[in-house]
Amino acid sequence: MSVTGQSQCPQCEAARKDHTLSRRQFFSVLGWGSFTALAAGLVGAGARYLVPNRVGPSRNAFVAGKAKDFRAKVTYVNGRRAFIVKNERGLRALSAVCTHLGCTVKWVPENDRLECPCHGSLFDPMTGQVLGGPAPRPLEWYRLNLKQDGGLLVDPDEIVSGDVFLTV
Ligand code: FES
Repeated sequence: MSVTGQSQCPQCEAARKDHTLSRRQFFSVLGWGSFTALAAGLVGAGARYLVPNRVGPSRNAFVAGKAKDFRAKVTYVNGRRAFIVKNERGLRALSAVCTHLGCTVKWVPENDRLECPCHGSLFDPMTGQVLGGPAPRPLEWYRLNLKQDGGLLVDPDEIVSGDVFLTV
């Protein structure tokens, strides 16, 4: 019987030593483990950077209606703070969010312009440009796509140039 708690069996002692790490082995394992975790994190971050956040419309995209139903020069999309603007080149989607302090601009056909009720900014509905008032920038144009069923899909999270028309 052992009073020290150690085994008297030579095979048991060898097996115990096989499962024991020296200080050097412990720090070597710790160092390589940390390096591997760091390398995996960097590779993952690099891969995430290279993959686009999304493909296709954002979750804020909405269907404004059927393309064939937009016959007027300017149509406000109820509840969406956007206009569908039409001319001879096609359709576009224009933000109705005033670039001054964010009020919703109104289409005033008798004045042939968009007018902000809050501080009086005026915008050209065909260009989005500021015609007057304190607004610092033109209105933004949103990505507009045609769905297979003829619906107009407006994506307010994707700003496009005012030269992008949807022909239908
Ligand atoms: S919010 Fe439109 S002019 Fe101020």
